[in-house]
Amino acid sequence: MFLTRCFKGVVFSDGPFWVEQRRFALRHLRDFGFGKTSMDNIMHEEVQELFKVLEASEIHPDGPVPFAFVICNLLFTQISRMFNQSIVNLLWTIVSGQRFSYDDEKFQEILTYVYKSFRLDVPGGILVNVFPFLRFIIPKWSGYEEAMEYVHGLQGMLRHPWSPKIAPRLGSQSSVTRALNATSLCRLIGEAECLFPAVAEEGLIVLCMDLFIAGSDTVSNTLEFCLLYMVLYQEVQRKVQEELDSVLGPECMPSAGDRTRLTYSEAVLAEVTRINNIVPIPPPHRCMKPTKLKGYIIPEDTIIFVNLWALLHDKEHWGDPEVFRPERFLDSEGKFVKDEWYNVFGLGKRTCLGESLARNALFVFFTSMLQRFHFSLPEGEPTPPTKGRPGLTSTPEPFRIRITRRSS
Ligand code: HEM
Repeated sequence: MFLTRCFKGVVFSDGPFWVEQRRFALRHLRDFGFGKTSMDNIMHEEVQELFKVLEASEIHPDGPVPFAFVICNLLFTQISRMFNQSIVNLLWTIVSGQRFSYDDEKFQEILTYVYKSFRLDVPGGILVNVFPFLRFIIPKWSGYEEAMEYVHGLQGMLRHPWSPKIAPRLGSQSSVTRALNATSLCRLIGEAECLFPAVAEEGLIVLCMDLFIAGSDTVSNTLEFCLLYMVLYQEVQRKVQEELDSVLGPECMPSAGDRTRLTYSEAVLAEVTRINNIVPIPPPHRCMKPTKLKGYIIPEDTIIFVNLWALLHDKEHWGDPEVFRPERFLDSEGKFVKDEWYNVFGLGKRTCLGESLARNALFVFFTSMLQRFHFSLPEGEPTPPTKGRPGLTSTPEPFRIRITRRSS
């Protein structure tokens, strides 16, 4: 994974270069409305598209276990990679200022690049990640060639999102995406050239790749876990829907600004992400200078891993960490209570750069789906396990659910 990034970008860099990249990324992402309620319109557009997909049962056929069929008003579907296209399109809109229609073949290409790059990036993904020298001896068999194909593919798409090759395919643009266009990657490259003359375009491309890789699977896997818990805990689902009905009614789409009003929904999201945190051990970091911590000296260049899973499942702190209990995040009046041990997005300076976008996107997608649909286990279906499949981010085992339109 270092080979594909060359220590550029923000996830796998450190020192002054990382400080500049992070600052640059945050500033521009704020310009885009990252984490602000102005992102709601873009999210709503994606949610509407997701609804169309759900209602037409057109789960993308490229997934590992595509399967969906409709009987009367009931949609049974296999949940796996269902949210990837919504989230990747959301990130693509942020990066390029334009969204794709889901059936666009270029968009499907981007999805494959993001998905494959993510899978190949993990140490267990391909041999070359463990023995980098093998790329010189057996580039094909070590997986190096394949990794490079996907990485270069994604880089190529990011390099020229405005190129004539892609522009005609972008379809109808909403006013939101037209407005975003003015602050697209094109402009950023010009600015990056002043900031990092040596690596301007390359650095920015890797930075954008980081956003895709760090942002897509994390959010979509979490949404899959949310549906899994709703299917298994019908009572919790009922309470979320009751809250939505009483605060928003059936028509008004949930927005990020509603997070403070929909406290039970917010608590459910916090509990799903705590009990099955999808990044149990974040990427390692390097100790930049000898550091004293609780009486121990950590030498320079020590590689440090943080065990977030341990924090989120500490028995002494949580009492019953293995129990799914959203109420642990609510006080006696039903107000949301923050917990300083809830560190799903990491700790300290390297904390998740996309946290506010992720929290808002999770909230808008999750509540919008529950407002419109009811999710349950198809009759006779075995109870799906909640234990995730390990990886750079943990993923639920594929499971089938029954989706019913609530208005019917
Ligand atoms: C449920 C969603 C998400 C979760 C649980 C999550 C979690 C994390 C965690 C645990 C880290 C590592 C912190 C560390 O190294 O100590 C991280 C880093 C990062 N995340 Fe996220 N993330 C999510 C969504 C996103 C999104 C949507 C984006 C961007 C679009 C994003 C961009 C990043 C980046 C760029 C870093 C590296 C930051 C740095 O090293 O300075 N993440 N995330």
